[in-house]
Amino acid sequence: MRRPWQKLVYLVVGVLLLSMLKNAFQSIWYRRSVTTVANKLPVVVVGSGLAGLTASNELAQRYHIPVVLIDKENAMGGNSIKASSGINGVDTTTQHSLNIKDSVDNFLLDTVKSAKNRGDPQLMKKLARDSKSAIGWLQDTFGIKLDALAQLGGHSKPRTHRSNGKLPPGFEIVSTLSKNLEKLATENSSLVKIVLNSKVIKINKENDKIKGVIYQDNTGKVHEINTSNVIFTTGGFGYSKEMLKQYAPHLIHLPTTNGKQTTGDGQRLLQDLGADLLDMDQIQVHPTGFIDPQDRNNNWKFLAAEALRGLGGILLHPVTGERFVNELETRDNVTMAIQNYCPQENNRALLVMSDKVYENYKNNMDFYLYKNLIKKTTIAEMVKSFNLQATPSEMVDILKKYSNNKDNDEFNRSLIINSFDVTSLNEKTELFVGEITPVVHFTMGGVKIDENAKVLNKDNNPLVNGLYAAGEVSGGVHGSNRLGGSSLLECVVFGRAAAKHISLNWN
Ligand SMILES: Cc1cc2nc3c(=O)[nH]c(=O)nc-3n(C[C@H](O)[C@H](O)[C@H](O)COP(=O)(O)OP(=O)(O)OC[C@H]3O[C@@H](n4cnc5c(N)ncnc54)[C@H](O)[C@@H]3O)c2cc1C
Ligand SMILES: *[C@@H]1O[C@H](CO)[C@@H](O)[C@H](O)[C@H]1NC(C)=O
Ligand SMILES: *[C@@H]1O[C@H](CO)[C@@H](O)[C@H](O)[C@H]1NC(C)=O
Ligand SMILES: *[C@@H]1O[C@H](CO)[C@@H](O)[C@H](O)[C@H]1NC(C)=O
Ligand SMILES: *[C@@H]1O[C@H](CO)[C@@H](O)[C@H](O)[C@H]1NC(C)=O
Repeated sequence: MRRPWQKLVYLVVGVLLLSMLKNAFQSIWYRRSVTTVANKLPVVVVGSGLAGLTASNELAQRYHIPVVLIDKENAMGGNSIKASSGINGVDTTTQHSLNIKDSVDNFLLDTVKSAKNRGDPQLMKKLARDSKSAIGWLQDTFGIKLDALAQLGGHSKPRTHRSNGKLPPGFEIVSTLSKNLEKLATENSSLVKIVLNSKVIKINKENDKIKGVIYQDNTGKVHEINTSNVIFTTGGFGYSKEMLKQYAPHLIHLPTTNGKQTTGDGQRLLQDLGADLLDMDQIQVHPTGFIDPQDRNNNWKFLAAEALRGLGGILLHPVTGERFVNELETRDNVTMAIQNYCPQENNRALLVMSDKVYENYKNNMDFYLYKNLIKKTTIAEMVKSFNLQATPSEMVDILKKYSNNKDNDEFNRSLIINSFDVTSLNEKTELFVGEITPVVHFTMGGVKIDENAKVLNKDNNPLVNGLYAAGEVSGGVHGSNRLGGSSLLECVVFGRAAAKHISLNWN
């Protein structure tokens, strides 16, 4: 006689077997259907910033899939090459060796909080979850050290990686990846082709498939490449007054840190194709672009890296000399504080750093000094040259108050490092100072994508087979405010995701 529990076991085993069969059948069927559409045309990657370089390197080196990388500029790197603070990651070997206890959940919480109910939580989850392997990939595949950390605004832990040494992180990462790609192109020109001075102007599709990419070279000649897979990595639109006028007209008077190539070409081409755009009006104004004393009105501003504040820089009111904000709040909040508390006309503040900040960030600081964006001066000279209302001795007190209250800051700044030595602080103490102003820096919005970096239409379905977007051209990863260091990370995470997804369908 069978017992009732035996029946139950048979039932469970039966259901399991059925579901295994179904999965096996599905994967066979899936493989077959994929095989029928597979072909060997090279993948076209549009844009050679970090997102494009990541996707291209992964495709060619890991998956041996041929790729053509196109950029409209005469050199690779986009805005990525300018990145100066670093790239985020949690649970990395660097965090371990520096004894930082952090987690995917911490990072996700900070990201979601900063996003303020905008964006796509699934993409944020992927960003945080894949951050460890993104940093590991840069370290292990390319030998980039990324052995130093900073805690940037809105982060609960130090998790923004850069390398100790002379090179700023964007330059180090981008030049390493572009050199590797150039090497692959030299070794095998059917595996990698790099096409510069060539602007993509159209994507051809037929039914639900990508057919080709049309681009124009710098002589005006139009070319076509046949392909079944395109990855858009064309960056943001921070330099385009036309697009700012359309999506955020209140910002067209602000200067920007973005290069002149940052004109939203991808967002527009993909929208024409039927892609959905989201959060296009969410534009990050970075609180600190350097005012060059020799060229105060230039529309392009050199960025005063957030790491300057993260490593101990403070902001002072340009008239009273007083602090007015927790310098490590999120970028939107710090910007708001500068716009609300500092003079509205000629809006600016002073960024002041101790000699300890200098020692900790020496190579960057030397560069800013060389460019005359900051100067080394005494407290008394600073008061005089900026015509501050505070007297030199009041200025000493302001800096003492900040340096003394490490656990009890008047603006609730949580991390006070590299502050001034209160025992020796006096009117002749030397410090570093520059003038800063808010600048258009990053466009959070963009093309809607899924976790595989596939471009989505208005119904949240993949718009067409073989169409991907990664990096600043995409929207949803940051909601209404991007955390420092999360943009380079997004380039690596979603650039790799696109390459991987193409490889799965390659056969
Ligand atoms: C000064 C500065 C400092 C920054 N610091 C940091 C930092 O420390 N950490 C961080 O995470 N983020 C930082 N960011 C943000 C980050 O650098 C960028 O958002 C990110 O690099 C964007 O990468 P991307 O690959 O998406 O685009 P980009 O690097 O901008 O590259 C896009 C490329 O596409 C090309 N392109 C555009 N349109 C076309 C077309 N039609 N045809 C062909 N090519 C085209 C462009 O020429 C460009 O080379 C910083 C940004 C700036 C401006
Ligand atoms: C060059 O790359 C192509 C495309 O992946 C490949 O078919 C070919 O075998 C490679 N040639 C060599 C010499 O590795
Ligand atoms: C692209 O494919 C079409 C046929 O579909 C062919 O006529 C054309 O020559 C191809 N172009 C290139 C550049 O290979
Ligand atoms: C930014 O300001 C808002 C509103 O004033 C506040 O709710 C939020 O907590 C601030 N963000 C941070 C990181 O302090
Ligand atoms: C600092 O935090 C305390 C306690 O949370 C709060 O009461 C106070 O208003 C905060 N100060 C500022 C300037 O935000």
